[in-house]
Amino acid sequence: MKSTPPKGNTYYKGRAKNYEKRRLKQPWWHTEQQEMQSLLSNLPRDLTVLDVPFGTGRFVPYYVDFGYNISGLDASNEMIAAAQESLGALFQKCDCRTGDAANLPYPDGAFELVVSTRFLRDIVVFGMAKKMLAEMIRVSSRYAIIQLGNAIEGDRLPNDDEVWGGNMSKDSIDRLLAEYGVKVLGSGPIEFIS
Ligand SMILES: C[S@@+](CC[C@H](N)C(=O)[O-])C[C@H]1O[C@@H](n2cnc3c(N)ncnc32)[C@H](O)[C@@H]1O
Repeated sequence: MKSTPPKGNTYYKGRAKNYEKRRLKQPWWHTEQQEMQSLLSNLPRDLTVLDVPFGTGRFVPYYVDFGYNISGLDASNEMIAAAQESLGALFQKCDCRTGDAANLPYPDGAFELVVSTRFLRDIVVFGMAKKMLAEMIRVSSRYAIIQLGNAIEGDRLPNDDEVWGGNMSKDSIDRLLAEYGVKVLGSGPIEFIS
């Protein structure tokens, strides 16, 4: 059994500085950027958004274009510093703080949109990912755009102490999301729920 502990602050300490530079070389990164831009373009303007984990704030230029009020949370101070460097003046438009996605420091329904990419599938174990998913849904009053991963073939519920990975089929993921009381509005590289 694969057991992967949360990587969090320790993992990103040394990597934060080069995080985006390295990712920009991945074609998949650009696919995700396009997918996010396209999903956001179908939503109302001027939403309040929480991006968790904020990472380098990769979607901030879109949030700004769409008139969003932007908040970001990440466990790593170094990633927030890397976001500041990467975003330049746009960083001033974001209310960023360090914190734990398993215990979001916001009231219920505080945001109209919650965004989470490159996180629940691989960075934390499944038991923790479910807790964090519940937190993301709790603080969203309307929409969530959350990147999960579904199996190309087969279907297996991960153990709570292994990463979610690409184990569950799309139907199983939809059933799991339904248990959280959300409706799936669209599925692609990134899951869109309400
Ligand atoms: C792979 S990066 C993804 C960042 C960004 N969402 C993206 O798509 O590039 C994972 C991020 O999760 C953050 N992280 C790890 N554990 C966390 C936790 N418990 N709460 C909040 N952020 C966490 C790391 O600091 C890192 O910035």
